[in-house]
Amino acid sequence: MRTRCCCFCICVFMCAVMLNKVCLQVTVEGKVGGSAVLPCSSIDNGLKNEDITVYWRHNSSQNVYDIIEGKGSVEKQDPAYKNRAETFPKEYMKGNFSLKLNNLQYNDAGKYICYITKAHQNPSTQLFVKDRGNHGAATRAERIASFLIVLHTLQYI
Ligand SMILES: *[C@@H]1O[C@H](CO)[C@@H](O)[C@H](O)[C@H]1NC(C)=O
Ligand SMILES: *[C@@H]1O[C@H](CO)[C@@H](O)[C@H](O)[C@H]1NC(C)=O
Repeated sequence: MRTRCCCFCICVFMCAVMLNKVCLQVTVEGKVGGSAVLPCSSIDNGLKNEDITVYWRHNSSQNVYDIIEGKGSVEKQDPAYKNRAETFPKEYMKGNFSLKLNNLQYNDAGKYICYITKAHQNPSTQLFVKDRGNHGAATRAERIASFLIVLHTLQYI
């Protein structure tokens, strides 16, 4: 009985940790050399091109990407993101201004803000960039958590 309770407690704790990571904060993880999609959506859809002006900024100041009146622009882009940032023009009309960063570097970590000028919304995402070798740690914790969930479920069968 006590072990079952203990297992349950650990399980609840692990789930809470995982949910917190996934739900309460928008966080994205990537590996050095890999890529990551940073989400940004507007609740308005059926936007007209002239309404679509969105600025992607990193650590509040660096220009990562601009979408000006429905067109992607890298004119004022910080050289650090040259040829590494892309958005999805076919998705603009749906209010999806997600940004894909390729060939991730450690310096890419931090806070990304997507300023949607017309919508007065500024969704932000926290990006974590991990060493390739480090990645095992997080997945191991997740594996243990799913094992505990399975274990807990099995006790009731
Ligand atoms: C936005 O577009 C990207 C790229 O196609 C896709 O990965 C993402 O799921 C889309 N987001 C939403 C909310 O539709
Ligand atoms: C942005 O901020 C993060 C976290 O504070 C930091 O790790 C990263 O190096 C910064 N990057 C740049 C380019 O300022």
